[in-house]
Amino acid sequence: MKLVKVEKRWQSEHEAYVKEWGSARMVPSSFSLSGYDTYEAYLEELEMRQQGIENWVPNSNYFLIDNRNRIVAMVNIRHRLNDYLQNIGGHIGYGVRPSERQKGYATLMLAQALKKCKEQELKRVLVTCDDDNICSAKVILKNGGIEDEPFRDEDGSVIRRFWIEL
Ligand SMILES: CC(C)(COP(=O)(O)OP(=O)(O)OC[C@H]1O[C@@H](n2cnc3c(N)ncnc32)[C@H](O)[C@@H]1OP(=O)(O)O)[C@@H](O)C(=O)NCCC(=O)NCCS
Repeated sequence: MKLVKVEKRWQSEHEAYVKEWGSARMVPSSFSLSGYDTYEAYLEELEMRQQGIENWVPNSNYFLIDNRNRIVAMVNIRHRLNDYLQNIGGHIGYGVRPSERQKGYATLMLAQALKKCKEQELKRVLVTCDDDNICSAKVILKNGGIEDEPFRDEDGSVIRRFWIEL
């Protein structure tokens, strides 16, 4: 299993993944293909976002690939926090292909993403999840997450916040 960058050669795999994800909101949103006429247009926009434009802080995106070159999960690493990320989004967002869940891939991918954060010279990383996302909380705890104060949004939703020392 390895992390690879988002590139044109993964187009058909990426499209198959999005299809399998279905109508649910894509997590992380940086991998959503909706609203783009072509894959090239998506890649172009992603490249600009990765540099940090408008509300986006500089960030990196990777696919987790299995030994059959199939995308099993996706991760978005934010290189620094803004107010929204400090409260809700955290440094790292991830999602696993529906048919590949509960096989330990999120746990493995978060561990690999933490190594990338270390390369970015981050000292500690914030990872968050919705209060009712028990699976994600387990993934974070298994990667050494220490729970901080939760964030309570205006709509009443509660976000759990964990720090991982690198
Ligand atoms: C959350 C998500 C990333 C987990 O991915 P995953 O690859 O299935 O996670 P893992 O297999 O590494 O670990 C999941 C853990 O949750 C546990 N789990 C699964 N279903 C559970 C349930 N209903 N209740 C309690 N624990 C559960 C698993 O047993 C496992 O823990 P264990 O290793 O102690 O047994 C995946 O479900 C997903 O993509 N969800 C949609 C997007 C999302 O929520 N992203 C995270 C945003 S913070």
